[in-house]
Amino acid sequence: MDPGEFFASSRVLIVAGKGGVGKTVTAATIAAAASRCGLSVLLVEVSGRSAAAPMFGADAQGYEEAVLVHAGNQHGEIRGRSITPDQALVEWLSGHGFQRIVKRMTKSGLLEVVATATPGIKDLLVFGRIKALEAARAADLIVVDAPAAGHALGFLRSPAGVREAARSGTIHRQAVEVLEMISDPSRCQVVLVTIPEETPINELIETSFAVEDEVGVKLGPVVVNSVLPRIDGLDGRLRWAKCSDHERSDLATAAEFRAGRTALQDEQLARLEDRLPLPQIRLPQIFGTSIGPDDLEQLATTMLAEIESLEDLS
Ligand SMILES: Nc1ncnc2c1ncn2[C@@H]1O[C@H](COP(=O)(O)OP(=O)(O)OP(=O)(O)O)[C@@H](O)[C@H]1O
Ligand SMILES: [Mg+2]
Repeated sequence: MDPGEFFASSRVLIVAGKGGVGKTVTAATIAAAASRCGLSVLLVEVSGRSAAAPMFGADAQGYEEAVLVHAGNQHGEIRGRSITPDQALVEWLSGHGFQRIVKRMTKSGLLEVVATATPGIKDLLVFGRIKALEAARAADLIVVDAPAAGHALGFLRSPAGVREAARSGTIHRQAVEVLEMISDPSRCQVVLVTIPEETPINELIETSFAVEDEVGVKLGPVVVNSVLPRIDGLDGRLRWAKCSDHERSDLATAAEFRAGRTALQDEQLARLEDRLPLPQIRLPQIFGTSIGPDDLEQLATTMLAEIESLEDLS
């Protein structure tokens, strides 16, 4: 399908998955790829960290929005910001006529009081800010780097939970409005990320059914990150390599190890395809110490090609 059409098909993409599988890298890759389709992008981090900025060669951004990539001839602007529950609560209260309380109470842990009273409220507050940004058309595409670990499901479940807990009033309304956004596929979709290994894939399969059936959010394609690129004819090349017998034997061991890993990986990719009827976008493992702007370009190029090769998504 046309990548530009894909990125324009939903205003908010929430990138979720198990801790450490590459959510931040995937969110940054989506931002870079969408920008190359001419879209303006706002990348939102909700974990309280600013992990994405260095991948764009920019300084870490804070709560305030910062430009990560300036708009050019061929690409849209990418801005980044972070949203934390504390800051979202202060903003929300300030916008609802509680400025005086905010001034008096933020220092004494207002959020903790509110959070204890209504479970899920922290996540809902963050969602509320995202919804406000979406309503204000802050960018053509808002990419949300969702919280780590098993928290992703809790994050997605929070609006429904709060709607039940607070049966009326502003908080209830906020929950209802957020639910309206996340259950409308033209406004919000979830992109789940995994790596091609057994446990993360099992978790992804479970999460995906919970997300669609229980939370009612549409799932976009699944991103399989850190896929080992295939090296064809490794054995054949070894035979002709100019090296000592000792080196040859070391290389053969390495080649065997690599072949073993790719075989395991292929098995997992096939299993995922079999168990989960969602299109896959595969991103290669990048070799090096950390992911910089050049690597991100490479990942975005791969993502664009992968989307191009997908059948039209309905
Ligand atoms: N395709 C890749 N190739 C090489 N390294 C990668 C790739 N994807 C992610 N990494 C590296 O793996 C680590 C984890 O990636 P990332 O921070 O994106 O994961 P995460 O899911 O956001 O983690 P967390 O749950 O802690 O937020 C980082 O050091 C990142 O640079
Ligand atoms: Mg992360």
